[in-house]
Amino acid sequence: MQKQESTDIETIHTLNELRFIQKMNKSLTTVLNDKIHQIEKLNKHLAEQNSKKDDFISIATHELKSPIHPILGFAELAKTGIMSNDEAWTGVVEMATQLQNLIGVILDANHIDRNSLKLTISEINLKDIITQKVMISKSSPDCMVPILCELGDDMIISGDIVRLGEVFQNLLNNSIKFTETGFIKVSGHVDKSNNEILLRFSDSGTGIPTEVEENIFEKFVTKNTDSQKPGTGLGLFVSKGIIESHGGKIYANNNLDAGATFTIILPITQLESHQ
Ligand SMILES: Nc1ncnc2c1ncn2[C@@H]1O[C@H](COP(=O)(O)OP(=O)(O)OP(=O)(O)O)[C@@H](O)[C@H]1O
Ligand SMILES: [Mg+2]
Repeated sequence: MQKQESTDIETIHTLNELRFIQKMNKSLTTVLNDKIHQIEKLNKHLAEQNSKKDDFISIATHELKSPIHPILGFAELAKTGIMSNDEAWTGVVEMATQLQNLIGVILDANHIDRNSLKLTISEINLKDIITQKVMISKSSPDCMVPILCELGDDMIISGDIVRLGEVFQNLLNNSIKFTETGFIKVSGHVDKSNNEILLRFSDSGTGIPTEVEENIFEKFVTKNTDSQKPGTGLGLFVSKGIIESHGGKIYANNNLDAGATFTIILPITQLESHQ
């Protein structure tokens, strides 16, 4: 009788253990499935990044190679006397500048990735920088529409004049690239109550394609129609890095009627150079 009782107790223990193991098994399976799902997601993301990187390498290689032929061509033409030295030098400088700009953007993107972007800070008036960039853009042969400028009072902040100039030029270049009719408009004012400067770059162009809307500020994200020159997809990534290193923010959205608007908010605070 006593033996039967102890066997019953043992059976109950074994059953309890089995139930416990079953429960553990179930929760382990859930954890494992979650992990597998996470790894699959990560894998997909890595594959996408890899393919974007491949696209970037082929575009960058093409862009890096294309000015070299004309540079050699100008040198050859000047050497044989078919072209004047002056004309050849102008061509060489233009092509070399194109190369230098592309290499600059690639280096900037690398610094932003590593959080090592250097800023040279001084007191600057954004109104002057934007006005200058708008003038350059207006004279671009690619610009098909008028560029309107509505800038309020002097917009003085402490910032890097060259880097912020790059951001404004990037945004204007994008608007020029995607706007064939209508207008491009740049507006800006000082928001004294929040101690910040608000800038808007808008256009009446094609608008941001849905495929890139969500990750437009990520590296290598680019989408142009076939007839347009392919981009590297670094312009907005670098622009965001520069604005954020000034403590600011940048947003993108499509307009209700047509085109896109990029909004920048920059704080009016004292910054120090990161050398
Ligand atoms: N003003 C705009 N209107 C419509 N789409 C835009 C505009 N600005 C950017 N985009 C979209 O965002 C993408 C990313 O822009 P980004 O400036 O980073 O790269 P990109 O212009 O393609 O190449 P690049 O590195 O030569 O500037 C563009 O390819 C385009 O699809
Ligand atoms: Mg661009």
